[in-house]
Formats: sequence, structure tokens, C-alpha cells
Amino acid sequence: MTQPLRIALAGLGTVGGGVIRLIEANGALIARRAGRPIEIVAVCARDRTKDRGVDLSRYQWEDDMTLLAGRDDVDVVVELVGGADGSALALARRTLAAGKGLVTANKAMIAHHGLELAEAAERGQAPLQFEAAVAGGIPIIKGLREGASANRIARVYGILNGTCNYILSTMEATGRDFADVLKEAQELGYAEADPTFDIEGIDAAHKLAILAAIAFGGRIDFGALEIAGITRIRAADIAQAAELGYVIRLIGLAECEAEGGGLFQRVQPCLVPLTHPLAAVDGPTNAVVVEGNFSGRLLFQGAGAGDGPTASAVVADLVDIARGQSAAPFSVPVNDLETLQPADAGRRRARAYLRFTVTDRPGVLAEITAAMRDAGVSIESLIQQGRPEEGGEVLVAMVTHEGPESGVSRALELLEGSPSITEPPLVMPLLG
Ligand SMILES: NC(=O)c1ccc[n+]([C@@H]2O[C@H](COP(=O)([O-])OP(=O)(O)OC[C@H]3O[C@@H](n4cnc5c(N)ncnc54)[C@H](OP(=O)(O)O)[C@@H]3O)[C@@H](O)[C@H]2O)c1
Repeated sequence: MTQPLRIALAGLGTVGGGVIRLIEANGALIARRAGRPIEIVAVCARDRTKDRGVDLSRYQWEDDMTLLAGRDDVDVVVELVGGADGSALALARRTLAAGKGLVTANKAMIAHHGLELAEAAERGQAPLQFEAAVAGGIPIIKGLREGASANRIARVYGILNGTCNYILSTMEATGRDFADVLKEAQELGYAEADPTFDIEGIDAAHKLAILAAIAFGGRIDFGALEIAGITRIRAADIAQAAELGYVIRLIGLAECEAEGGGLFQRVQPCLVPLTHPLAAVDGPTNAVVVEGNFSGRLLFQGAGAGDGPTASAVVADLVDIARGQSAAPFSVPVNDLETLQPADAGRRRARAYLRFTVTDRPGVLAEITAAMRDAGVSIESLIQQGRPEEGGEVLVAMVTHEGPESGVSRALELLEGSPSITEPPLVMPLLG
């Protein structure tokens, strides 16, 4: 058998530990498939004394992870530390500048610095791979870059954050409110102590930006994404959606208008019809739909996180490198990536669910429907939910007929400052 692929692991937490366990368990099988063994040479984490449930004594320990990049006995550095900047980025830059391969699961770093790193990889003729950065164990980057590579992609969209999906599907199953379910998700380890990145849609947006760049051959532009999270969704919205035949899911969607058109990229909660495959995706599972002009609709589904699934994606990247297969990180060389202008979201046509929180007094409904009429928005159904206590607030929900998003925006502008509306209206498009 030929020379092993020698790797260094930076980060021995959930994913790093999973990578060691996977390589130890499946080493022989991987060596057969890759044509050579994958051998861990050196490792690094913050705390050398921590029990990680794996035997680290056979690997060399490095206190400063950036030194992994300079080791002559290492071919590929695997960055599993996290964070868009800081030590992870310093390590990535050093590794690629040294002409070594880099494998990472770090979506924040790739979403913010992916182009720079891809350029460095090209300069150093070194592989850069990040399958685990998007949707954990699901081979969606491979699916797009290889399996669907012959297609013009119309849309790529899906459930890209397991924490949000767990919260929304648990709210749906139990009728409980957001804060209550978030607390439980934290206790069960499905949500971080600081859940901001997940529940505000930022984590899903990192992944969507990466998918969009690969699907549409565009330069990654994280700032162009519109992002809304799930914090404002109430149990009443979920119940209302159910009555209408929908579930609520946080959906990241990127769509490119044909030939020279703009790129639309948005993460936001949507109403998903029960007949759509994404409606059945419960708990922390992720799922991504790719629509190709010859392949039709492709659905990728699986565990979006966790030590095993994420390690599976990391090691698959290493197998590619061991085989000498590595495509351009974003499918085409950085210089050939297009600068895609943001699409005019106002022209997008959709049906929408709107929920208003209003004071219970006469004339409120008339005020809202008049604003809709004046903005040219046609209402398909209107629901006033329950009677409040004296002087309390009521929820008014409606579904619009299909129309441009600009109409709904205009209606909301007309209602701005209305003393009857007690919090900003919640708008969620209906998927499909
Ligand atoms: N967890 C998942 O399911 C999942 C899924 C997909 C992608 N990812 C991505 O994978 C990466 C790692 O995630 P994770 O969940 O494994 O994180 P984690 O459990 O928090 O582990 C992070 C590791 O990095 C080490 N570390 C932190 N700062 C360091 C420094 N300055 N020098 C050396 N080591 C340092 C920590 O050391 P100590 O252990 O000594 O503290 C720890 O071993 C992140 O980019 C994450 O977004 C994770």
C-alpha cells in the first residue's frame, strides 16, 4: 500500500472526537477505498488533560494549533475548532500558504472568508474541502458539485438548522410556546447555551451562502443575504398554519433568475404545505432540495449535526484527498466565479401568511383590510383568533392570494405607526 495521508486535527470536541473514533473504527475499510490509510499524526485542543473518551497517547500533541500547519509530517490539517475569525482562520491561512490541504467543518469561516481561502488553495495547489460545513452528515456539497454538476440549478432550498427544526417541530407536536421549547432544547443539548446564531437564522444563512455560491457559480456574498429567525413565532401561528394545512419550518432558499438575472438568498420561517417533503422533516434533521433543469427535484436528507454524521462528512473529504480527487472548492476557479447582483425581492410572487397583534377594539380589522386593498394585496382568508380578556390583544392572521412581495411591504408601510397594532406584523411566505 502507498504512503498514508498524514493528518493533524485541530479541535477535539464533538466533531474532532468523532473523527478520531471514525478513523479508528473504520480505518481498514477507509484505506481500501481511499487506496491508502488515513493516519492521524498530531492533535491540538485547549485542554490537554480533558478526558475525551479516546486514547490520544499515540498522537503527538501540539499546544499551539497554528504550528500544525508548519509540520513536515502533516499533509492535511483538519480544522474543527470553529469561529469565523481568530485562531481557526489563522490556522486555515497558514495551512494553505504552506501548500497543505485543509478540511474544515467551519461554516462561519467559509461563509465569511471562503473566497480568500479558495484563492490561497489555488495558489498553493492544495485541496480545500468543507463538506461538513453544510448540513452535517448530508453529502450536499458533493451532491451539488458532482452529482448535479451537469444541471442549471434553478433553486436550492431547505432546512439547514437542526436546532430551529427541533424547536418548531416540538412546538407543533406539543402546542407549547417558543421560549419553553428553547429551554428544553438547551437542556437536551439540541441548542447552545447562547442560541443566538441558531434561532436568529445566522447559522442557516452561513450554510445557504455556501450552497448558493456552489449552485450558481457566484462569489459568496454573505452580506447580501436576508435573514429572519424563528424567535417571533408563537404557538398560535403554528396552530393556525396547521388548520390551513401547513407546518412552519425555517427555510433557507437561494434562487437565481435565468441569464444575467439576480440572486435571491433568504433565510426565514415559511409555511410548508403538508404535501411537501420538507413538511415531514422533524426534530434536528436537515434536508435540502436541489432543482436542476435535467435532474428535476433532488432531495437530500439526514442528520445535520452530531459527532458521527459530521465526522462522516469530514472523513469523506479526507478520502477524496487521499484519492487525489479534489474539485475547485466552489465548483469553478475563484476567478471564474461571477459577481451575482442581489435580485429585487419585491418582484418575487408568493402567497403569504400575515399575523397582526392588535388591540381589541372596533375598526381594527377594517383598518388592516383597507391597507391591504390600497396596496393591491388580495386576501384569501382572514382569521381573528379568540377573544382576549378585556382590553387585551388579539391575533389577526390572514393568507394573501399570490402577488408580489412589494405589495405586502407597501401594506405594512401603510399600517406603520397604527396605534391598533401592538407589535411588528409577522410575515411568512407559503412555500411552493
Ligand atoms: N457539533 C456539530 O454537530 C457540528 C456540525 C457541523 C459543523 N460543526 C462545526 O465543526 C466545528 C467544531 O464544532 P464542535 O461542535 O466539535 O465544537 P466543540 O465541541 O466546541 O469543540 C471545539 C474544539 O476546539 C478546541 N479549541 C477551541 N479553541 C481552541 C484554541 N484556541 N486552540 C486549540 N483548540 C481550541 C476545543 O478545545 P477543548 O476541548 O480543550 O476546549 C475543542 O476541542 C465548528 O466549526 C462547528 O460549526 C459542528
